[in-house]
Amino acid sequence: MPDLFIGLMSGTSFDGIDAALVSFDQQHVQLLDTCLHPMPEHIKHALLHLSEHKLHDLNKVCQLDVELGLLFAQAVNHLLDKNKLKASDIKAIGSHGQTLRHFPHQPFPYTLQIGDPHVIAVNTGIIVVADFRRHDIALGGQGAPLAPLFHQAFMQSEIENRAIVNIGGFANVTVLSKNKDIKGFDTGPGNVLIDAWALQHIHKPYDENGLWARQGKIHADLLTALLSDPYFNKQPPKSTGRDDFNLNCLNQYLEKFQAMPAVDVQATLTELTAKSIMNAIKQYASNTDAIYICGGGAANEYLMERLQNNAGTVLVHTTGKLNIDPHWLEAMLMAWLAKQRLENHKLNLKDITGSTAPHLVGTVYLT
Ligand SMILES: Nc1ncnc2c1ncn2[C@@H]1O[C@H](COP(=O)(O)OP(=O)(O)O)[C@@H](O)[C@H]1O
Ligand SMILES: [Mg+2]
Repeated sequence: MPDLFIGLMSGTSFDGIDAALVSFDQQHVQLLDTCLHPMPEHIKHALLHLSEHKLHDLNKVCQLDVELGLLFAQAVNHLLDKNKLKASDIKAIGSHGQTLRHFPHQPFPYTLQIGDPHVIAVNTGIIVVADFRRHDIALGGQGAPLAPLFHQAFMQSEIENRAIVNIGGFANVTVLSKNKDIKGFDTGPGNVLIDAWALQHIHKPYDENGLWARQGKIHADLLTALLSDPYFNKQPPKSTGRDDFNLNCLNQYLEKFQAMPAVDVQATLTELTAKSIMNAIKQYASNTDAIYICGGGAANEYLMERLQNNAGTVLVHTTGKLNIDPHWLEAMLMAWLAKQRLENHKLNLKDITGSTAPHLVGTVYLT
C-alpha cells in the first residue's frame, strides 16, 4: 500500500482551499482525489481587507488563524469522507496556510501564513506539517518559491530544457535544464491584478477564460509603465506578493491614463502577466525548449494565447502534457513537502530562495 498524504493549498487568490489526496510510490506521485473547499465570503473579505488595506487588527488576525484552521480541517474531513478513509489511513497533511504578508527584505524579513496547524491536527486526528517558509527566511532565503524542487522531482527531462510556470495570484518560474541545473523565482503578478480589476469593474472574482480582456486593446504606454516596476529588474533570488503588487499600486500607475477604458486596462494587465513571465524566461533561461503552465492562470485561454504569442517559436503547454494536473500541482506540492519532512530529508533551496544551508522544510504538529 503506497503512502497517502493530503496537501492543502490556499493561495493569494483567496479562491478556495485546494485539497488533494496524493499517493507516493518510489519515484511516482499519483493524484487520487481532490476537492476545492469553498471559502466563506466573510473570510475572503477579511483576508482581502487585511492584505490590501494594511489593517493592523491583531484580534482579527488571531481569530482568523483559528477560523481558517477549522476550515482547513473541514476540507480534509470532507476529502476523507468522500474517499471512505480514516484519519489513520493518512500519513500526514501538508498545509501551506494562508499568506497574509510576505516581505523577505532587510532589516527584518518576514512572511506570515495563518490557519493554525494545531487546530487542523486536533480536528482531523492527522499529523500536520506546516510553516514551510520561515526557516528558509531565517537562513537568509526568500522563503519562496517552494515548488521548484517538486517540479524537478517529477518533471525534469534529459532531452528538453523546460520552464515550468505556476500562475496563481503571483507567478513563479522553475528552470529545469537537461544538465540537471535548476533555478526558480517569482516573476511578478499572475492573476492578482487581473482579478482585482475584474472585481472592481465587472463584479466577478475573475475574468473567466479572459473573455473580457480579449475585447480590449493592449495599451503600449501603460504596459511600458507597468513593466518599469522595480521588481522586474531585480536579480533572483527574488519573491513577491500582495505587499508589492495590489490595486493601490495599480491605481498609482493609472493616474496618467485616466481616460482609458476599463476593458483596455484589463487587456494590458493580462499582457503584463504574459510579458513579465516571458521576459524572465528569455533573460534567465534563453535555451528553453518548452514551457509548461500550471495554476489557475492555465484556465485563462486568452492569457495562454498571449503567453504563446510572447514565446514565439517555443511551445507553451499546460503541465497536463506531462501528466501533472495543472490545477492541483500546488496542493500536491504540499503533500510532497510533508512527506519530505516526515522522512527527515533536508532540502537544498540555495539556488532558488538563496537560503544558506540545506534544511528540514516545515514543522511537524502532532494531534
Ligand atoms: N476559467 C478561468 N478563467 C480565468 N481565470 C481563471 C479561471 N479559473 C481560475 N482562474 C484564475 O486562477 C485563480 C486561482 O488560481 P490558483 O492557482 O488557485 O491561485 P492561488 O494559488 O493564488 O490561489 C483565480 O483567482 C483566477 O484568477
Ligand atoms: Mg487557489
